[in-house]
Amino acid sequence: MYDYLLKPLLFSLDPETAHDLMRSVCRVVNWPALSQLVRSQFAVDDARLKVSVAGLSFDNPVGLAAGFDKNVELLGLWNAIGFGHIELGTVTSLAQPGNPRPRIFRLVNDKALINRMGFPSGGADEIEKRLKLIRGRFSSLPIIGMNIGKSKVTELEKAVDDYCCSFSRVHHYVDYITVNVSSPNTPGLRQLQERDRLLELLKALQKLNALRKPIFVKLAPDLTFEAIEEVLECCFDSGMAGVIATNTTIGRAGLTTRIDQAGGLSGKPLFNRSLEVVRFIGERLQGRMALIGVGGVSTSDDVLAMLAAGAELVQVYTGLVYGGPGFVKSLNLGLLSFMGQYECSSLQEAALVWKSLKSGNLHPRAAV
Ligand code: FNR
Repeated sequence: MYDYLLKPLLFSLDPETAHDLMRSVCRVVNWPALSQLVRSQFAVDDARLKVSVAGLSFDNPVGLAAGFDKNVELLGLWNAIGFGHIELGTVTSLAQPGNPRPRIFRLVNDKALINRMGFPSGGADEIEKRLKLIRGRFSSLPIIGMNIGKSKVTELEKAVDDYCCSFSRVHHYVDYITVNVSSPNTPGLRQLQERDRLLELLKALQKLNALRKPIFVKLAPDLTFEAIEEVLECCFDSGMAGVIATNTTIGRAGLTTRIDQAGGLSGKPLFNRSLEVVRFIGERLQGRMALIGVGGVSTSDDVLAMLAAGAELVQVYTGLVYGGPGFVKSLNLGLLSFMGQYECSSLQEAALVWKSLKSGNLHPRAAV
């Protein structure tokens, strides 16, 4: 139904108008009983998909990436379509409109998007109220994260206070926090990935973190490996729970569409670079911190590639736009089908077998 009816309708509209329309229609699923009813059709409930990361228990490894639900409006929908976790935000401490429209562009032939949203946000005060309300309404929800970023008008020198303000408003109501220092659409933001600035920011957040919520740092795919090593050191030194790799890229490699629009590229053309970054980080971490892979994931094979590269969870955004509401289910069923075929009892085992298969091993289970 999505491919033949809904997608042609939505794709005939400007991307953000389509998003707004979908948001209005899907609000109905925010009614908890309906959300649970729909979830029973979409969610894949199987012990082999369960995974424990940073002290949190996830029903399956597929999560919603930040940016789709910046203002906590559609938790019922994300719950209904079977996500194992939902990353909300980016929220900024001050309410702000973001960049002028149009600011999202579809690259259909490449199954990609370019966006320069610039963090439109209701602001941390408003988001705190919504989180409180929604937590009261739903008795059970998947793992919820909140992604925090810098308000546009806040100077880089005051960024620490700005992040701390958002953190203290929202962290009570979520299971984990992500520090976004990697969006290409807020001038200067990515400079916060530099060692001294990042360490100061992460230590300040950790000081506020009396509840010991896991904190993740989200990285840009455009960093050099040397810069990534520095970021990882800062994460270790400040007691971060893990890293999320990657955000959108300012690069345009792998595109067949000719388009001259500023912003971050996401979707299929990003996959190879994100995977490369995840593999690099996975090798450096060796399990000492959690790792979440994101960027161009569009099939269950992509999920397995991310897991084999060292990720424990994945997140999706653009794949959902192109794949529709059954996308999460199809990824999870694809994982189970692979696990059934190779008799794997956990995702870790599946990742080992997948890796072994890809390296040409005729007896992939020998790797387990
Ligand atoms: C994003 N992304 C994003 N990331 C983030 O940390 N905060 C945000 O507010 C947003 N906003 C946003 C808007 C739009 C329109 C897109 C397409 C993306 C990045 C997103 O979370 C993810 O890291 C990348 O899109 C790569 O994953 P996909 O889309 O290739 O699966």
